Amino acid sequence: MSDGKVYPVKEAAKSRALVDKDQYMAMYKESVDNPDAFWGEHGKRLDWIKPYTTVKNTTYDRNNLSIKWFEDGTLNASVNCLDRHLAERGDQTAIIFEGDDPADSRHVTYRELHQETCKFANALKSQGVKKGDIVTIYMPMLVETAVAMLACARIGAMHSVVFGGFSPEALGARIKDGGAKWVVTADQGVRGGRPIPLKKNVDAALNNPEVSTVEKVIVVKRTGGDIQWQEDRDVWFHDIMADASVDCPPEEMSAEDPLFMLYTSGSTGTPKGVLHTTGGYMVYASMTHEYVFDYQQGDIYWCTADFGWITGHSYILYGPLANGAITLLFEGVPNYPDSSRIGKVVDKHKVNVLYTAPTAIRALMAEGDQYMKQSSRESLRLLGTVGEPINPEAWEWYYNVVGDERCPIVDTWWQTETGGILISPLPGATDLKPGSATLPFFGVQPALVDSDGNVLDGATEGNLVILDSWPGQMRTVYGDHERFILTYFSTYPGTYFTGDGARRDEDGYYWITGRVDDVLNVSGHRMGTAEIESALVAHPLVAEAAVVGYPHDIKGQGIYVYVTLNHDADPSDELKTELVQWVRKEIGPVASPDLIQWAPGLPKTRSGKIMRRILRKIAANEHDSLGDTSTLADPSVVEDLIEYRENA
Ligand code: WTA
Repeated sequence: MSDGKVYPVKEAAKSRALVDKDQYMAMYKESVDNPDAFWGEHGKRLDWIKPYTTVKNTTYDRNNLSIKWFEDGTLNASVNCLDRHLAERGDQTAIIFEGDDPADSRHVTYRELHQETCKFANALKSQGVKKGDIVTIYMPMLVETAVAMLACARIGAMHSVVFGGFSPEALGARIKDGGAKWVVTADQGVRGGRPIPLKKNVDAALNNPEVSTVEKVIVVKRTGGDIQWQEDRDVWFHDIMADASVDCPPEEMSAEDPLFMLYTSGSTGTPKGVLHTTGGYMVYASMTHEYVFDYQQGDIYWCTADFGWITGHSYILYGPLANGAITLLFEGVPNYPDSSRIGKVVDKHKVNVLYTAPTAIRALMAEGDQYMKQSSRESLRLLGTVGEPINPEAWEWYYNVVGDERCPIVDTWWQTETGGILISPLPGATDLKPGSATLPFFGVQPALVDSDGNVLDGATEGNLVILDSWPGQMRTVYGDHERFILTYFSTYPGTYFTGDGARRDEDGYYWITGRVDDVLNVSGHRMGTAEIESALVAHPLVAEAAVVGYPHDIKGQGIYVYVTLNHDADPSDELKTELVQWVRKEIGPVASPDLIQWAPGLPKTRSGKIMRRILRKIAANEHDSLGDTSTLADPSVVEDLIEYRENA
């Protein structure tokens, strides 16, 4: 499978890139042989208030786990993103804002972004926010969202951005876990021409008596639409900005002080607050942004992610701005007003680097080439993808149609937990194979292990682990360090376990095969099966539920739900529709089940554990390869399920 087509490094990419193949190999070797010297040198890419004297202090021993980088250095992330650029490029664009409406766009310079950030930082202080506090940000894709994140960084508060597509229940659970006293939101968002009721969702989240910590809700006016107002709690962003000073000295942060937390789904339990700290994260985000996208001054760079996900944090905001880049911020969606939008935005702003997700590529591909052909896209130099495995057909279409066979594609594999890209081609150094994330970034030591944890050599397939720490790695699960150790460092002791499976070919290239745990990847969005199951069983008519992924043409994975109803419930189509609505309300539209199947019983072992392997096979219509079912408590349920499959 690995011997598909190879796309050798392009001359144009090589002649401008920071590193070619030989330099990549030499630097990689140095980075793993001598991490202290390597990162000691590259850590200098940031401006430090007090320079570090130690670099790497890490151990993956689970009894003694410790991950510290640059620990005696001090710095401020917002200074690295803003202040240090002012002298040289204060009047250069930092952010190009492209609104949902194609007629709505504007440029924000580094100086303007600095001023707005300082003002909002002072405004936050006036609302009582201090170093170490948590501020929840539930926002559309606006310049004000970037300002809010940077303002938190400036005063040493942690931001916790919650994706605007999550429901009030999901938002409330995330506020409650961290205990935030402040929420920053907008009256409404706008996507695809439709309003999103963000403030209304916040009101609903805070109506739950269990979500009791919030004292102030700061509201950005985006649409001017009708909203409810609670005098003692709600404040307008523009009101507190009006009299805020532009002078806000940055907080001096230790390298290991938290920068932000961001919730992500795991295979069990509620979403985890992934905590990233300041020094290592900023070094790693900015360095990967520069090398992977071969970012050079003046390039126009566009990552289509949302601030609600890690890609938005590392590769719209922190990485690019630390590098003094021009970063495009898109409020809309790829198919509004129609599917020519991405290409048209590329032409309008002369975008050089486009970084998006396989699900978006597949959706545009399904619309046909004519939409893409409505733009010239001649400014493009490099394409990137992230979030899920890209199938070779989608890769080829991205390469041939979007990039006109001119632009290399960097398929970047990483995770919320990793802070930045771990496995990816470098455009001037790496020959490409469609569907492979290729080779590790500097300092990253991937390995494949079998189910007993034995490290496998050569061309093989196994569970993907990382053998040693890199600066951008998460430091803990907020409020639950034990869970951090248990989730990532206990499955294969002495390594960081990614939860992904991968194959390695004879050239040492990695091919990510997807999650090996109970995490789904739906349109590049991570979701725990356990979360969706617990939402379902909260419905009064549901006795039991099991959720698995199944192959889906556009989304990569779809959500397949097996539901056992209470005996008096009527298994009707109306009830299926109601359950879909129920899950949307409990979690959000991203978690909408694609298919629901009534299940008279679920396949369980004698000890009561649901055998998901069998459910996955039935959902994928692979009835002939169910494997061993003899350990089931009641093997006959499988036949029933196959029969019911027809009606899903
Ligand atoms: C998957 C997103 C294949 C993988 C940055 C990982 C990928 C999960 C790729 C993390 C890729 C991400 N090829 N699979 N290039 N990139 N994944 O935390 O399963 O939202 O574990 O971070 O997405 O998703 P997360």
